[in-house]
Amino acid sequence: MKELQSIILAAGKGTRMKSDLAKVLHPVCGVPMLSYVLDAVQSAGSSKQYVVLGHQYDEVKVILPDHCIAVRQKELKGTADAVLKVKTHLADYGGDVVVLCGDTPLLRSETLKMMIKRHRGSGAAATILTAVLSNSRGYGRIIRAVQGDPVAIREDQDASKDERKILEINTGVYCFKSASLFQALSQVEENSRKKEFYLTDVIEIMAEKRWKIDAVETDDPQEGFGVNSRKDLAVAQRIIRLRILEKLMLAGVTIVDPDTTVIDAGVKIGMDTVIKPFTVIEGDAHIGKKCVIGPFAHLRPQTRIADQTEIGNFTEISRSRVGSECFMKHFSFIGDAVVGDNVNIGAGVVTANFDGKNKHRTTIGNGAFVGSDSILVAPVKIGKNALTGAGCVVAKTKTVPDGQVMVGVPGRIIGKKKI
Ligand code: UD1
Ligand code: MG
Repeated sequence: MKELQSIILAAGKGTRMKSDLAKVLHPVCGVPMLSYVLDAVQSAGSSKQYVVLGHQYDEVKVILPDHCIAVRQKELKGTADAVLKVKTHLADYGGDVVVLCGDTPLLRSETLKMMIKRHRGSGAAATILTAVLSNSRGYGRIIRAVQGDPVAIREDQDASKDERKILEINTGVYCFKSASLFQALSQVEENSRKKEFYLTDVIEIMAEKRWKIDAVETDDPQEGFGVNSRKDLAVAQRIIRLRILEKLMLAGVTIVDPDTTVIDAGVKIGMDTVIKPFTVIEGDAHIGKKCVIGPFAHLRPQTRIADQTEIGNFTEISRSRVGSECFMKHFSFIGDAVVGDNVNIGAGVVTANFDGKNKHRTTIGNGAFVGSDSILVAPVKIGKNALTGAGCVVAKTKTVPDGQVMVGVPGRIIGKKKI
C-alpha cells in the first residue's frame, strides 16, 4: 500500500469566534475541535500529520499527539501558502497527501477512507471531496468540464453569477499525489482581490496540464461543515453529541431522553446502564455495567463508578471512585473521594473537600452507611461497615473506625453499629 501523510491547515485566527482562545482549541463535547480532525485522518491511515499553525502556535502545539508535527506559518497568506510551508518536510516523499482544515470536526474517517480509495483507484493527481448543498453561499464552487471532470474551484467572491448557482461545493478536503501538488503549488499566483494564495487554484493549474482530477461527493453534506462562529460551534456540538449517544445506545446503554443528555466524547459506559434525563457526564468519566444514573446527575472528569451502582437526582461526583452496588440517590456531592462497595450515601451528604487552599481526600470503606445530611470535612476516613448519624459532621482528620457509629456535631463515637 502506498504511503499516506496529511496536512492540516489550522493557522487562521478564527476572528468570528470572538474569543481569546484559538478557534481549533474550542471544545466540542469536551475535546478540542482540532482533535476530531486529527483522529479522523489518523484512523483513515495517515502515518504522519503536519499541522500548520500560526495564531497561538504554542497553545495549539501542546495538544498535538506524538505523531503530529507542528509547522509554523508566520504570516497568513492563504491556504496555498500554508500548504507550501510543509514542502521541505515532504521533499523526498513520493506518496499521497490528504489536505484538510482543522475546523471541520464532523468529518468522519469512513468518508476520508472512501475518498482515498477512490483517489488510488482512479490514479488522479487530485481528488476533491465535494458536497451538494441547498445553499452553497460562501463556499468554493466545483466547475466541471462538459464531459464531467472538475477543472477548477471558483471561490465565492470570484464566481460569476452563473457559477454562484452551482450547488456542488469544495469541502476543503483533498487527496493529492504529493509531488503533483507541490509542482502545481509553485505556479499559484496571488489572488488580486483577497491578496492571498489560494490552494484551490492548483485544480485549474492541474487541469491545464491535462492531469486527471477527480471529485467524490460526501453521502452526508454535514461532514464538510466548518466551524466559524459560536453558532456553528453549537451546531457541531449538537451533531457530535447525538453521535456519541447513538454509539453508546448501539453498545447497550439506555439513554432515556437523548434530547436532554449531555455526554462527552471521552466517557465510557458499560452495558445495561440506564442514563435518565437531564444528566451531564463529562471528560473521561467511566461508568460500569447495570448502573442507573440520574435524572439530573452531574458526573465530572475523573469519575469512576463500578457496576450496579445507582446515582440519583441532583448529585455531583468529581475526581472520585465509587464502588459497586452503592446508592447515592438524592442531592449529594462527592469530590476527591474513594468509596468502597455496598455503600449507602444518604440524602444531602457532602464531602467538604476544599478548605479554601487545598483539596483533601475522603475514604469510605465497604458496607459503610453515611447518614442523611452528613458533612465529611476532608481529609476524613469512614471505616468499613461504619455508620454516621443524620446531620453528623465528621470533623477534619477524624476517622470513624470499622463498624463504629458516629453522631452529632462535631461527630463523636457512640459505639458499635448493630448489624
Ligand atoms: C476554503 C476554500 C473553499 C472551501 C472552504 C471549505 C480556499 C481558498 N478556499 O475557504 O473553496 O469551500 O474552505 O470550508 O482554500 N488557513 C491557514 N493559513 C492561511 C489561511 C487559512 O492555515 O493563510 C487555514 C484556516 O485556519 C482554515 C483553513 O485554512 O482552517 C481554511 O481557510 P479559510 O480562510 O477558512 O478558507 P475558506 O474561506 O473557508
Ligand atoms: Mg473556512
